[in-house]
Amino acid sequence: MTAGRWERAAEQYATGEHKSGDELRVAVEFAAPKGTERVLDIGAGAGHMALAMAPRVASVILTDPVDAMLDAARGVFRQAGIANADYIKAAAEALPFEAVSFDLVTTRLAAHPFGDLDLALREVARVLKPSGRFIFVDTVAPDDDESTRFLHEVETLRDPTHRHTLTRDEWVGRMQSQGFTVAQSAVVRKAHPFEPWLERGGEDAASMASVRNRFLAAPPAARAALEIVVRDGAVVSFTDTKLIVAARPQAPKG
Ligand SMILES: C[S@@+](CC[C@H](N)C(=O)[O-])C[C@H]1O[C@@H](n2cnc3c(N)ncnc32)[C@H](O)[C@@H]1O
Repeated sequence: MTAGRWERAAEQYATGEHKSGDELRVAVEFAAPKGTERVLDIGAGAGHMALAMAPRVASVILTDPVDAMLDAARGVFRQAGIANADYIKAAAEALPFEAVSFDLVTTRLAAHPFGDLDLALREVARVLKPSGRFIFVDTVAPDDDESTRFLHEVETLRDPTHRHTLTRDEWVGRMQSQGFTVAQSAVVRKAHPFEPWLERGGEDAASMASVRNRFLAAPPAARAALEIVVRDGAVVSFTDTKLIVAARPQAPKG
């Protein structure tokens, strides 16, 4: 992954649209914490998923491969006066934790750049207790192929670390193939003010200009699926779909 891109984004993740959203509320609902849980958050970014869980559980460990993200998360937790958290630098594909050690593992809007998604999912299954739950949140591809191709193109143009643009069935299929049973799932729509979205991921002025142009010339199917709003020749916003899944580790065979 390109660490520089995430380092530039850390401050924007702390204060921008990641702070809230229906997908965060549904993720906490699906986790249904009782107050005693040991929680691991993967791809913690500036810590908003972990922060939503922390007051409701015994402890949270935030992990992210980028130091600047963990620093931003420390600041967000300090500001909120929440202290039951630890911060550990780690990628999803190599979690430095013993097997069967967490009641809940969360990951919100962080799986799309995972270099090896299947390995990361196996790592989650390994560290979860048999009674534990995996709470997953990420963007889902639109229903039609043309809009999916468009979304994948603009996401990767904006952010070269973006890898996975998957439908609901593809995300769920990957989880099932790596040892999970899906217990609950939901989708919510999320509107993105365009320029802050572009700025948060934007590599450089030239690639940002290309993304703007691609949005202005979006095929009609993508314009409808992503509710692209253009006013006075400028893109104002678009809306995508977030998938929230609660999954349980399958019992080992044999
Ligand atoms: C959009 S941010 C996450 C937002 C955060 N979960 C929240 O709820 O506010 C995506 C994060 O994924 C992290 N990331 C990228 N590749 C990763 C990997 N292979 N393993 C774990 N985290 C990764 C990035 O460093 C970044 O902090």
